[in-house]
Amino acid sequence: MPSIKEILNTMEYGPAPESQKEAQAWLEQHGRTFGLFIDNAWSAPGELFASTNPADAGKLADLTQATGGDVDRAVEAARRAQPGWQALGGHGRARVMYSLARLLQKHARLFAVLETLDNGKTIRETRDVDLPLAARHFYYHAGWAQLQAEEFADYRAVGVVGQIVPWNFPLLMLSWKIAPAMAAGNTIVFKPAEFTSLTAMLFAEICVQAGVPAGVVNIVTGDGRVGEAIVNHAGIDKIAFTGSTEVGRLIRVATAGSGKKLSLELGGKSPFIVFDDADLDAAVEGLVDSIWFNQGQVCCAGSRLLVQESVQDKFLAKLRARMDKLTLGSPLDKSIDIGALVDPVQQQRIAALVESARAEGCDVYQPVCDIPANGSWYPPTLITGASTSAAVAQAEIFGPVLVAMSFRTPPEAVQLANNTVYGLAACVWTENISLALDVAPQIKAGVVWINTANQFDAACGFGGYRESGFGREGGREGMYEYMTALSEDARPAAPLIEAKQKTKAVAPAAGAFAIDRTAKMYIGGKQARPDGAYSRPVHGADGAFIAEVGEGSRKDIRNAVEAAHKAGGWAKATSHNRAQVLYYIAENLAARGEEFAARIAAMTGAKNAEKEVQASIGRLFYYAAWADKYDGLAHQPPMHGVTVALNEPVGVIGIVCPNEAPLLGFISLVAPAIALGNRVVVVPSEAHPLSATDLYQVFDTSDLPGGVVNIVTGSADELARTLATHSDIDAVWRHDGSAEGCAEVERLSAGSLKRTWVGGAKGRDWYSTAQSGGRAVLAHASQVKNVWIPYGV
Ligand code: NAI
Repeated sequence: MPSIKEILNTMEYGPAPESQKEAQAWLEQHGRTFGLFIDNAWSAPGELFASTNPADAGKLADLTQATGGDVDRAVEAARRAQPGWQALGGHGRARVMYSLARLLQKHARLFAVLETLDNGKTIRETRDVDLPLAARHFYYHAGWAQLQAEEFADYRAVGVVGQIVPWNFPLLMLSWKIAPAMAAGNTIVFKPAEFTSLTAMLFAEICVQAGVPAGVVNIVTGDGRVGEAIVNHAGIDKIAFTGSTEVGRLIRVATAGSGKKLSLELGGKSPFIVFDDADLDAAVEGLVDSIWFNQGQVCCAGSRLLVQESVQDKFLAKLRARMDKLTLGSPLDKSIDIGALVDPVQQQRIAALVESARAEGCDVYQPVCDIPANGSWYPPTLITGASTSAAVAQAEIFGPVLVAMSFRTPPEAVQLANNTVYGLAACVWTENISLALDVAPQIKAGVVWINTANQFDAACGFGGYRESGFGREGGREGMYEYMTALSEDARPAAPLIEAKQKTKAVAPAAGAFAIDRTAKMYIGGKQARPDGAYSRPVHGADGAFIAEVGEGSRKDIRNAVEAAHKAGGWAKATSHNRAQVLYYIAENLAARGEEFAARIAAMTGAKNAEKEVQASIGRLFYYAAWADKYDGLAHQPPMHGVTVALNEPVGVIGIVCPNEAPLLGFISLVAPAIALGNRVVVVPSEAHPLSATDLYQVFDTSDLPGGVVNIVTGSADELARTLATHSDIDAVWRHDGSAEGCAEVERLSAGSLKRTWVGGAKGRDWYSTAQSGGRAVLAHASQVKNVWIPYGV
């Protein structure tokens, strides 16, 4: 007699199509033509473009390509509405957002079918994933609106935000963007992707029903040109973008120097690691969710399978058998696993990448599928035998294509996992919790799922490391993306003390026989001469020569970055240990306080230099105090488990210090960075660098490991340029009041999508903890990693 499993395996399911009647009727009601949604009114349709159903290539509706003038009108409406929306208060906004959540639930079926028609993803996913999560986002953020005055008392809304999303999760991405922005009191100009705008049109309708005031949510449709108009609009205070890394880079360049806040959620090439002790059947199911969910058109798709060599054959056999059972076909059919790709252009792109792998001799496994005659489709695909540098192993394919590789040891798994420019997500499968929790922090990714995959919740932040972008969506950390600290408004218009002195580098005098008064640079815990052997004079407030400092060059920065990377152990040191070192630095600075005060007075002419020294000691205590208190969070998302949000260091940070308060400015930037485990390459005040070079002895006597702080003196502009273009630096901070220099740092950082924190032309009161301390600074020094740990699975 056949077993139940065998019977189930041979069972055929009849088609179970979801009705599209309501969705089609809704489209008809609109004459299948849509204008733009601005100020709670629909504009007359303009130049039109078609939205098609990718599953049969049939046209669904025509949408309007917004013009620059339309974007202007949308921004103006948003600007007019913003003060009133903010003044409505947290509770008032929470009520409106609660209505939106309720209406999303009420119309969930219509939304789900419309999304499936427009995008090609299966009804099972739109019904069970996209819609519940979209509603959850509005509920969760209605809660933040309600609590805003209490929980974010020191913040205000950013203002008018421009939001641009891709086509893979049209309504869900809309919710991820609009809900936190609304909660914080911002007004919005939103652009859906040109392939998938229909659920945004339906959402516009429910905004009116929910009582969203006119101008709070404005929706403009169209292609990348509309996105560009939003990005470049001077009336927008923040851009939030999800999409390709390529466009993310363009946006980083376009917004450089504009003062716009920016968050980017970009591509990924996420590893799915299977250790030999994993529950292999569960891991296969996880992998199906990970790479074949939404046809692999998911930024955090587990597209690189890394499987331990000892179980590789067994695992791949199970995987191929499972692939054979995946059903491909009409996405409205409830029994279908794999729907249509969003557009033929994606199909061609995926096919070309798979062909490149075949041409390189890789093995390509595709189960036999009945591919429908019309529409864009691609079968589930497994590639084995690819080299780590092959295009399919490195590029984001954004399709149902899995590339498998093997590893032998946990360190090799980590090394392979991190062998990518991206850092969005990772999965770790093992029954050994100790191994999983050892591996998770070593993976450079914003989300790690242990023994699970593709889990999302509004309470748990989501976002990338490295070229997967910066900023977080969801959670408390996501709210900060839509708020500005009140202390920023209090910053002085320009640096308080003086413009920086410009000095020129001088060559060593030939044959000069004088006492060398050149302060050395500090690299890897050792004093270092500048590679170019040039130096520059430092003059006092009275113009008299005080000393020389090295003229740092590209090579010196390279050496410093290398030393900083070698000091990676600092990130793993306990926070207690890091705090102790900071206290010790403070103690040793205090012991030499008079000497430092005299130096500051000589350089700057400050009458009360002792005050700056005392404030610097205070700041060291302040960040020593924070070092072991900036803890993460344990979220309890709707699963049987816990999501641990860890505040991890960013990595190696390049810092260009202010000229004012040369010691306090230096300490105020370096201390938070190292308190949280970063290593730094610091360019001290160009005008008054000697307070920093005097610190070497203090560091040496304070147990600070070599390479944690590296100091390169010289031209702020030139060295900042080198820091911003260096591919092994994770973030650059610049605070010397140079608007142009800060803009350049932002522009150049686009190369490797570094995080930046720049002060622009404004000054900062370095004595004020509100302006130069607090969680806002600690957030710059850290990135949140969410580790999902289910229990009892
Ligand atoms: P895309 O990045 O071009 O488009 C995303 C959004 O940005 C769309 O709304 C688009 O209209 C807009 N946009 C395009 N150019 C713009 C510009 N210069 N300024 C402002 N906005 C602009 O992504 P696309 O073309 O839809 O897909 C191309 C590839 O990008 C995919 O094959 C995939 O590899 C990747 N991708 C990654 C996503 C992710 O979430 N990581 C999402 C979508 C695409």
